[in-house]
Amino acid sequence: MATAAVAARITGSSACLTFRKERGPRTAGPSPFSGRYAPLVIRELFEARAGEDYDLYARGINPQFIRVLRTIGFDRVWARGEGQYLYDSDGNRFLDMLGGFGMFNAGRNNPRIRAALVETLELDTPGSVQLGVSLLPGLLAEELLKRTPARLARVLFTSSGAEAVEAALKLGRAATGRSRVVSTEQSFHGLTLGALSAGGDRHFVERFGPLLPGFSRVPFGDLDALEVALRTEDVALFLVEPVQGKGVNLPPSGYLEGAQKLCQRYGTLFAVDEVQTGFGRTGKLFAFEHWGLEPDLVTVAKSLSGGYVPVGGLLMSQQVYDGVFDSLEHSVSHGSTFAPNDLAMAAGLATLRELDDADLVERSARLGARLLELTRALADEHEVVREVRGLGLMWAMEFGEPESGSVAWRLMERMQAGLFAQLVVVPLFTKHHILSQVAGHDLPVLKGLPPLAVTEQDLEEFASALDDVIAKAGRPTRVAGLALRAARAR
Ligand SMILES: Cc1ncc(COP(=O)(O)O)c(C=O)c1O
Repeated sequence: MATAAVAARITGSSACLTFRKERGPRTAGPSPFSGRYAPLVIRELFEARAGEDYDLYARGINPQFIRVLRTIGFDRVWARGEGQYLYDSDGNRFLDMLGGFGMFNAGRNNPRIRAALVETLELDTPGSVQLGVSLLPGLLAEELLKRTPARLARVLFTSSGAEAVEAALKLGRAATGRSRVVSTEQSFHGLTLGALSAGGDRHFVERFGPLLPGFSRVPFGDLDALEVALRTEDVALFLVEPVQGKGVNLPPSGYLEGAQKLCQRYGTLFAVDEVQTGFGRTGKLFAFEHWGLEPDLVTVAKSLSGGYVPVGGLLMSQQVYDGVFDSLEHSVSHGSTFAPNDLAMAAGLATLRELDDADLVERSARLGARLLELTRALADEHEVVREVRGLGLMWAMEFGEPESGSVAWRLMERMQAGLFAQLVVVPLFTKHHILSQVAGHDLPVLKGLPPLAVTEQDLEEFASALDDVIAKAGRPTRVAGLALRAARAR
């Protein structure tokens, strides 16, 4: 199709193609923003409605979630966030070992990222013209591609991790002309239907089926199973997290390199999901660097936002790009209204700069090693600690029934699988003011994804609080108390 005709189809009009106005000087006509108007002052709203956070949320958004938070004593009114800390309205400081599910690598309310965003707002940039582009997306793509293997040549921006995964699935299918997708058991790729079809955690899937056809999963770490799945040469992409977020499962030695080779052998795209592991989380800018991988597709999101503006992206090889965006007609084959937008791009640019300037990636590697050292010592002291693992500041502690046998443990597991980890998470929060999480449904695994600005002293406090909490968690009184609370919450 001729260029003009394609453009006309995209714009929905041909007039703009034929009649071009001479460019005159920009005139500042009357601005709709000038004159008197009553600004919505957010600060005043915060003051006027202080303390209504949970009631309002329950009334208009999700009362069940509020019930859960109230039941476990997590219903604090939050006043402020800074770096690796949260402060409640009583002035208590909490150490944030959860890091917004991994979106605060650069810390909460990072002043340099905030300044870049304020500056962008003040510039009144003409972003999201849609039929036109601005400077910032190209700059962020340039910065991302500068930091990744030469094989990755193009970026498609999105506004979330799940959207980046959806893009990988769609573009992977179009580029290969194949429809099957293989992923790994226990993986997590987001909660949209395509991402769920890859992840397939039954807790997220039940009631939402049917999922997309053509998806299957192989055990994480099992190259033989992967080869069986790929051998039919009809698999578009193999999608894998370099370290699985659910449970923090590290790949066995040689696994990811072997998977990449198998993908090459059978013409399958090797897609690495770095939504959680990216931007320094594992002690490298991207986790795939640990194994010298050169994926065809890489998904990113979370911490690229600087913790401020949702942003994600799919990094792809030239071959994938050419296979999808292969003509003028296909120039807008995938995208969304908000991606890319200038605020998100500014957040991304400022985050990459901050990771460099504050040496956050190196810090993640160094403090991650210290965290492992501090917490592995607890495995020697507490029989219930089965394993401590991690890479950089992606960390987990797995619990299991003590070798000597424990009635309390079996009682807990019967009440609810993985309950012990909850018995740790709750007092860590209520007693020690440390926010953490269980690493997935029914898993007896505690997980940490702190902002990379966390200090050695923070980690020492975390380890000592863990020591205290684990010692008390298995006591029958706590088990009974939790059972009662859980029963009341139903
Ligand atoms: C590995 C991975 N992929 C994708 C996603 C989905 O990202 P989002 O929550 O931004 O949609 C997540 C979210 O936790 C993730 O950990």
